[in-house]
Amino acid sequence: MVKILAFAGSGRKDSVNKKVVAIAAKGAQEAGAEVTIINLEDFVMPIFNEDLEAEQGMPVAAQAFKELLINHDGFLISSPEYNSSYSGLFKNAIDWASRRTGDEAPMAAYRGKVAAIMAASPGGLGGMRVLVVLRMLMENLGTMVLPNQKAVSGAFAMFDGDGNISDEKTEKALKALGKELVDTLTKLKG
Ligand SMILES: Cc1cc2nc3c(=O)[nH]c(=O)nc-3n(C[C@H](O)[C@H](O)[C@H](O)COP(=O)(O)O)c2cc1C
Repeated sequence: MVKILAFAGSGRKDSVNKKVVAIAAKGAQEAGAEVTIINLEDFVMPIFNEDLEAEQGMPVAAQAFKELLINHDGFLISSPEYNSSYSGLFKNAIDWASRRTGDEAPMAAYRGKVAAIMAASPGGLGGMRVLVVLRMLMENLGTMVLPNQKAVSGAFAMFDGDGNISDEKTEKALKALGKELVDTLTKLKG
């Protein structure tokens, strides 16, 4: 069975990116995947510093996040757009997980994986600009990124407090992206 890790680049309690990624995750589950949804905020790790790494090794939470990446075939990622880029929370976790420990293959968390990327913003562009750099980052790490992606604009008005979405077209597109990731991984796994 295809295993997918789903997470948002925001730890905010009421994060619209968490809501967006949950809908794509539902699409992936309906397509037959086993989906693990995590909250990056639960993985408390210091800002990456090579001195700290040399002195103390990899923080427990960073190792746990890296192992989750390693143990899943693909990723559903929805990122907030902070000043046209991804959040520090997201990039810090990605940096820690790029570090090798034990007898792991280099970049084991990223190489050979497939990702579908999304963004959500209250603004009119829906985080379109972060998708450009997020795609570049993931591809450079060795993760294939699906050509299809989704930027959700006006996202604050689209969800209620429970994460229910009012826009049917967006819901369909997000679920379809989740399904596309499952279909692609199923083909790749043979
Ligand atoms: C430091 C900072 C920079 C931001 N820059 C952008 C931006 O460049 N483009 C944008 O659409 N929204 C920007 N925003 C607004 C975010 O889209 C908004 O806070 C959004 O709710 C974050 O996603 P979340 O709900 O998943 O936490 C910024 C917010 C912060 C805190």
